[in-house]
Amino acid sequence: MSQQFLADSFGRAITYLRLSVTDRCDLRCTYCMSEAMTFLPKRDVLSLEELERLSVAFISRGVRKIRLTGGEPLVRRDIMTLLRRLSRRLGTGLDEITLTTNATQLARHADELADIGVKRINVSLDTLDDAKFKRLTRRAMLGKVLNGIEAAQAAGLKIKINTVALKGVNEDEIPSLIDWAHQRGIDVTLIEVMPLGEIEEDRVDQYLPLTAVRDALEARWTLEPTALKTGGPARYVRVAETGGVVGFISPLTNNFCADCNRVRITCTGKIYMCLGHDDHIDLRAALRGQQPDEALNAALDAAMARKPERHDFDISSRGAAPAVTRHMSMTGG
Ligand code: GTP
Ligand code: 5AD
Ligand code: SF4
Repeated sequence: MSQQFLADSFGRAITYLRLSVTDRCDLRCTYCMSEAMTFLPKRDVLSLEELERLSVAFISRGVRKIRLTGGEPLVRRDIMTLLRRLSRRLGTGLDEITLTTNATQLARHADELADIGVKRINVSLDTLDDAKFKRLTRRAMLGKVLNGIEAAQAAGLKIKINTVALKGVNEDEIPSLIDWAHQRGIDVTLIEVMPLGEIEEDRVDQYLPLTAVRDALEARWTLEPTALKTGGPARYVRVAETGGVVGFISPLTNNFCADCNRVRITCTGKIYMCLGHDDHIDLRAALRGQQPDEALNAALDAAMARKPERHDFDISSRGAAPAVTRHMSMTGG
């Protein structure tokens, strides 16, 4: 069984690893975490060597795309070393190494990222309004984010912006944000808020179905179908008037689990087979035990056997408990 390419019990090939390198973040987005979020002690976090060994084990089992996530991956001090080491695998099993970042620290890493062989990165940005950004992220850092995006583009990196659609918060701004991005050659992917972890607000008050957003965009623009695929859950259209692309990640209104190709690992080495379930397996124990290669492969086989068919997200009743207790920052999405 071991050493075969990873596939789950529903016949889905697992070729995409989302690797969280830290649970820390320099922002505090209200839909993601509470202001008083507690982070893990550093000693619990995998070392750079362990992150690399895990990645290599996944590559040897058929993973072709690795995305570093967080928290915020660029707040981890030695992150560029890991990226550089993993980039040596590009072309020999690995097709893509990339990251999802809030871009606050992107400006000083942009040139090196391009040099390493990163081609495109996803930047999380929900508003271009200074005051709203500060309210939403609880930090006044929009200027840094915009500098980061500019520096990344100047370095030749392709940028995709991820925008979580939030009722009454950035709802009215979505078309102008798309316009702004498309003018700069940046694609935008809209995301439905997901019920992960306890936060101060009720998800019912935040949730904006992308079916409604799409209707509003269609009233303004011509959305043309496109076959574009990036390996993640987004489904894309092209806006005829701007020439740019808009993606929709709609776990609640249009389930995409049948095409699931991914697993995620937390920065402490726990593999979560689905974003919407609590079940996980501790890979750190395998890594640090006797015969780590065998133990790791056995753990991956167990993970494949236990990967659920789909999530059961539901944001319909006020006061409901989240689908899972952990926050997005633990698995990086
Ligand atoms: P591309 O390589 O550009 O396709 O990126 P991606 O969409 O795979 O990654 P990104 O980190 O940009 O994720 C965007 C959003 O999609 C985040 O909010 C993730 O939480 C969400 N997302 C990614 N994978 C899954 C998944 O398997 N299930 C669900 N429900 N959401 C996911
Ligand atoms: N629902 C949807 N997206 C979320 N993100 C963080 N928390 C949530 C949530 N509860 C987004 C971030 C980032 C990506 C990794 O996940 O905005 O774009
Ligand atoms: Fe895969 Fe679970 Fe995400 Fe669905 S919610 S796409 S099954 S990880």
